[in-house]
Amino acid sequence: MKNTHTIVITNNKGGVGKTTVTFGLAQALAKRNKRLLLIDSDPQGSLSRRSGHEPKEYTDRSLYDCLENILRQKGNKIADYICETDNRNIDILTGDTRLNINRNEVAMVFMRANFVYKKLLDQVRALDKYDFVLIDTSPSVGAEYTQILVGSDYVLIPITTSRDSIEGIDSVVTSFNDCRTFNTSLKLLGIVFNDVSLRGAIAKDIIPEIKETYKTYVFNTIIERSVIVEKFEWNNSLGSEANRINTAFHTLAKEVLKRIG
Ligand SMILES: Nc1ncnc2c1ncn2[C@@H]1O[C@H](COP(=O)(O)OP(=O)(O)OP(=O)(O)O)[C@@H](O)[C@H]1O
Ligand SMILES: [Mg+2]
Repeated sequence: MKNTHTIVITNNKGGVGKTTVTFGLAQALAKRNKRLLLIDSDPQGSLSRRSGHEPKEYTDRSLYDCLENILRQKGNKIADYICETDNRNIDILTGDTRLNINRNEVAMVFMRANFVYKKLLDQVRALDKYDFVLIDTSPSVGAEYTQILVGSDYVLIPITTSRDSIEGIDSVVTSFNDCRTFNTSLKLLGIVFNDVSLRGAIAKDIIPEIKETYKTYVFNTIIERSVIVEKFEWNNSLGSEANRINTAFHTLAKEVLKRIG
């Protein structure tokens, strides 16, 4: 039986690179022959779009449909909701705006009572197919976020050198501690700097400061600010050429594999 590791990529600050890191790390792990399932839990659907799936509300094959299947006890198989991507090692449960509906109070009580994400992730593990599940999350953290953490194994926090994104670490750690009551095996995988201008004075001050505070939780890999990121957003791929961004994601993948062992 495969040991499927579930990693939640999260920071409640918007635009820090959650989707970029999810996508880049997935590509790098897939290159190492790992099988991955991406879960786009963000109603914005950015990860779905980057993976070649324009978010559609009229589909019946998406994360929303999959959650409904579990909540309404329809009894369909999880595999019925998973889509392939152009990368043969990466599949996805796509996100779209209907996920916003799950955020209202009644829906949340219903979801909570059913531990819906935990059930979903247990079904994914039972497929015995994936080495990793990477869950991209929304910046506006709702109660479904706790549900996601309760079902997962690791939390990965992307930050930039902006003050807000760094303050996001504390709020993730608070949710993390709340969820440990229900999920004692949840671990902090690490904090990764993204979108960093290494020549800037801020990076020179901030990076050592964060390393001093969060010690070994901070990954050695730093993903620099680069137009290459915008390019791979449009190409749905990291590409095969060696460049700083490609190399950084491969180094990050190595660090992740080492930490997860
Ligand atoms: N290393 C980088 N270099 C240059 N641009 C970057 C880098 N990382 C992210 N960006 C750009 O910043 C924007 C936000 O990135 P991304 O969508 O990954 O953030 P996010 O945290 O997922 O945002 P949201 O909170 O809205 O989900 C995107 O346009 C992306 O191309
Ligand atoms: Mg995003």
